[in-house]
Amino acid sequence: MKHAVPTRVLFVCLGNICRSPLAEGVFKAKIAQRGFADAFTVDSAGTGSWHVGHPPDERTVQTARAHGIELDGTARRIRPDELDDWDYIVVMDDANRRDVLALGADPGRVVKLRDFDPAGPGDVPDPYHGDLEAFAQVYTMIDRSLDGFLASIQPNVEG
Ligand code: 4NP
Repeated sequence: MKHAVPTRVLFVCLGNICRSPLAEGVFKAKIAQRGFADAFTVDSAGTGSWHVGHPPDERTVQTARAHGIELDGTARRIRPDELDDWDYIVVMDDANRRDVLALGADPGRVVKLRDFDPAGPGDVPDPYHGDLEAFAQVYTMIDRSLDGFLASIQPNVEG
């Protein structure tokens, strides 16, 4: 499969240890399954700095693993100088959106993940203070919404 310039997708949440690493891992699994992993550059970042350098939350790792997805990477904070490097800055909630816009992100590049949720829009709620079931629900929302997101974007793929 031939492709032109990769479509660049950055998933953003607050801590970069729960929601956005999960979205990154699930998205990478979906594009790999569909055979167009090379058509994308994918990463995740947080708006906050508390967990910089940490691996994803153990409950996030466990939730991903239950679906056959191994997460890698360490938390990092989004940098103002990278904002224009991404075609899509995919935020999990309205606070994330406000924060990336306050850093100077082009509003045209910022999308909210659940705007692509076939079950309806909303936030992907922060599961950090919740139980494993909260993580499972976040997984389901992310999984569903990513299918909608993938269907809606035009990856720079030539058949
Ligand atoms: P995330 O969850 O934004 O989905 O990674 C959070 C994890 C940690 C904190 C906030 C949100 N925290 O404040 O430590």
